[in-house]
Amino acid sequence: MDGGDMPPRRFFCRKGEEIMSAKLIKGAEVAKEIRAELKEEVQRIKEKYGVEPGLVTILVGENPASQSYVRAKQKAAHDLGFYSVQDNQPADISEEALLALIDKYNKDPKIDGILIQLPLPKHINENKVLYAIDPGKDVDAFHPFNVGKLMIGQPDYLPCTPAGIQELLIRSGTETSGAEVVVVGRSNIVGKPIAVMMMQKGPGANATVTVCHTRTKDVQFHTKRADILIVAAGVTEYVKGDWIKPGAVVIDVGVNEVGRTADGKRILKGDVAFDEAKEVASAITPVPGGVGPMTITMLMKNTVRACKVHNNIKE
Ligand code: GUN
Repeated sequence: MDGGDMPPRRFFCRKGEEIMSAKLIKGAEVAKEIRAELKEEVQRIKEKYGVEPGLVTILVGENPASQSYVRAKQKAAHDLGFYSVQDNQPADISEEALLALIDKYNKDPKIDGILIQLPLPKHINENKVLYAIDPGKDVDAFHPFNVGKLMIGQPDYLPCTPAGIQELLIRSGTETSGAEVVVVGRSNIVGKPIAVMMMQKGPGANATVTVCHTRTKDVQFHTKRADILIVAAGVTEYVKGDWIKPGAVVIDVGVNEVGRTADGKRILKGDVAFDEAKEVASAITPVPGGVGPMTITMLMKNTVRACKVHNNIKE
């Protein structure tokens, strides 16, 4: 990644005043490093134990964003040498049939991880489906059993996006112990679990955590106090440069499609006004190429872990 142990570059304007320009925390590069480590591990497990991590991704319907996410997950699994299955189901599949499908994969010894791409069609009770996954194969870590274990500081699997954020903080050399962490957003997928993880004892944690949400009275009051600001608000460029404490580390979880290029590629922007923020922060994740690639990598890491647990591999 870009100078993980290097101080941020310093620039000065003509009057001699310092212009900050943040170090980029390049998730895409960190993800590449971790995937190389995982690939070696998968190879070793195959040679030594004759097993390979198995991942099924289940896609219901034809939502283009979901299709693209699932494709990326399958590609990552394939590149790492997993046994991987893409299971596409029609948008009108019944809840009962989907539950039966999950039951089939719960019992399949070749499958270590089950991922159901969200959102699901309205006629299906999402919670009922997620709760049907064997917690030992719940590589998204969305099952209440895994959420509960995370809360008490004994996780088997970490939820993927928060795990990716924590890994980026650790690998960029960001001091978290005693840091004021402010999380903007309270979703079950990012805001709540990252808040819990940052307040636990352990590496990349031990922080004092504040969570802001849509009913917070003065969001800027909180963001301006943050040594580490984690934004998962789901609103394009919600956090402005002057909401950020000079020298803070900013993690932007936002993935907002703001248009398409002439050749149909998605144009993405984060939840932080990047151009302003980079002049104030000491380090910041770009969008794209920041948190996003880490999420899939952590899914792969969870699947390797599941494979080791299922095959009693203790290394
Ligand atoms: N849809 C958006 N994010 C996620 C995720 O992390 N996991 C799953 N399964 N679906 C999603």
